[in-house]
Formats: sequence, structure tokens, C-alpha cells
Amino acid sequence: MIRTIQYKNNAVRIIDQTKLPQKLVYKDCRSLRTLWLAIRRLEVRGAPALGAAAAFGVLMGTQDFKGEDRKLFIRSLNKVCDYLATSRPTAVNLFHSLEAMRMMPWLYPSASVAGLKGAIRKKAFEIYETDRTVCRAMGDHGAKLIRNGDRLMTICNAGALATVDYGTALGVFYSAQKRNKRFEVFACETRPLLQGARLTAWELTHARINTTLITDNMAAVVMRDKGIRAVFTGADRIAANGDAANKIGTYGLAVLAKHHGIPFYVVAPRTTFDLSILKGSDIPIEERDPQEVRQLAGRPVAPKTVSVFNPAFDVTPHDLITAFVTERGIIKKPFKKTIKQIFS
Ligand code: MRU
Repeated sequence: MIRTIQYKNNAVRIIDQTKLPQKLVYKDCRSLRTLWLAIRRLEVRGAPALGAAAAFGVLMGTQDFKGEDRKLFIRSLNKVCDYLATSRPTAVNLFHSLEAMRMMPWLYPSASVAGLKGAIRKKAFEIYETDRTVCRAMGDHGAKLIRNGDRLMTICNAGALATVDYGTALGVFYSAQKRNKRFEVFACETRPLLQGARLTAWELTHARINTTLITDNMAAVVMRDKGIRAVFTGADRIAANGDAANKIGTYGLAVLAKHHGIPFYVVAPRTTFDLSILKGSDIPIEERDPQEVRQLAGRPVAPKTVSVFNPAFDVTPHDLITAFVTERGIIKKPFKKTIKQIFS
């Protein structure tokens, strides 16, 4: 599988996803500012990939610290974490990685600066490798939900490009393909930034998965007339009661799925659950530049001055979700109880 993110020669190497599907371009982020901008501009994106990017960002931002003063090092570590935390607010994986890094001095109270640097390096690669195994485990659990002949739907990009190298929702498709299941995927284009059209359609066609691209407003008719059997999406943050934030448009798909009696599955690792948040309305939702809506692929499609509402995510209430597919298995209702049981 393609590697979305790597750490090479003291730089965070990413695939610049704003260039896809036209060009596959790797970009080395050699400064924290470059990485921060790459995250903000969605050059690297998707909740688990942001978790890995944050971990490597802390590694990059702390390795050059000069001197032996532990207190000064901890101050510098926290500064790096505070800065990366301002890049994007919704995907909790990013914050979980930063939290893990901030914990290092507490876990190694007598470590020298060199020791702490070593611990940070080890943790960053652990976060990276864990994502790879966890995505494959989710894929294996989720593949059991797919039957021969199924027509499935997805939104945004929850694939290799949104993780280190395999995907959450699309990982389920890859695992089903490995088991020789025959199925088709309808990918919603995902306005305004077209992650479905640019990234999911690119990834799935490369993987030789039978894929049909639709615009978002075709989802209802496709569900009704094409016999969609299940919807699989990723998530950016899931509250303790099972309310799940994901790409804008996910909530609409869940409402439509309910109306048509179609199961709606959210595929996400432990690191996407935020048990400190009790319900979806407490999840911070990123609002992005109005230009993203006034334009389409860089071209104006609306009056320059028209008001715009541009939330990057929405929250799907837990009652519209059939089950969560996680690395520990499939979590069914009642979510408040089952999420707690499986993760605490
Ligand atoms: O704004 P993006 O492209 O970062 O949004 C990504 C999504 O909403 C994904 O569905 C989510 O992060 C899950 S990725 C495995």
C-alpha cells in the first residue's frame, strides 16, 4: 500500500493530497511551520494520518533542542505541542498523539534530555506502526459485514490517504477484496473539497475496486434505485455516547440510510474515540474559508461577496449508527455501555 506519511532524514514526508488525482507528489516538511500549514491546507488529512503527523511533528520539533536542561526541554516540548494543536480542531487523533508526547517527561521522570528525545522518537514510530496494524484489524472485522454482490456507499476519503497506509472505511473494502468478495462501491464526491472524487475514487480505482463516483445530491436516489446494502464511513471524533463527527455530509447520508433501511457503519480506531466528551454537540467543529464554497477546484462558482457557511464536519447522532467497526471488533448498541466496556 501507498505510504501517506513517513519520517525521513529529520523531515515529515507526506503525499501532498491537494495535488491528487493529477499528480502523486511527495513533500518533505522540514519545519514545524511547513507541517502546520500542510495540515491546515489538507495536504495531509484524515484523522489517523493527522495523529501520525502530529507525532512526527513533535519528533521533528524537539530533536534539535540544544543543551541538557530538562526543564527547558519540557517547556520546548509543550510549546511544540501547543503549536501543532492549533492546526485543526476536530480530529481527536491529533490531540491524542500530542497528549502522548506531553506525557513522556512524566513517564520518564529521571530521563536526561537525550533520554527524553529517545522516548519521543520511540513513541512517534509506535503511533505510526500501531495505525498500520489497527487499520488492518478493523478491515478484517468489517469485511465480515460485506456479502457477495453488495453495493456499498462511502463519503469523503477514509482510506490509505487518511491513515498511514491502509484506511478505516476503505480498509474494510480492501480486506473484503482480499477475501475475494465481489462488491461495488458508490463514492460521494464530497463537496466542497472533493475528497471523495479526488482521493477515494483515485485510491479505489488503483486498487481495482469497482467504483462509481456520484455527486453528493445523488445519494438518495442511488440508495433507493441501486440497492445500496450498507454505508461505511470514517470518523474524526466519537463522543462517549456514540455521536460521531465526520466529514460534512455524513449526517445527511445517515438520515437517508435510516429512511431506506440501510445499515450505517462507522469504522474508527480507539484513538478516534473521545471518552472525555459525553455527546456530539460538545465536539469542536472546524469552520473553513468561505472561498472553498464560493469556488470549485479553484474556479469561482458564486458571487464573490455571497455569505457562506462552511463547516468541515457534522455530527451523526448515535441512533442513526448501526455499529462501530473498531480494532477490538464490532461495537453494537447501546453504545454508551458498549463503548465504555470495550475501551475503558
Ligand atoms: O477534512 P478531512 O479531509 O481531513 O476529513 C477527513 C474525514 O472526515 C475522514 O472521513 C475521517 O478523518 C476519517 S479518516 C480515516
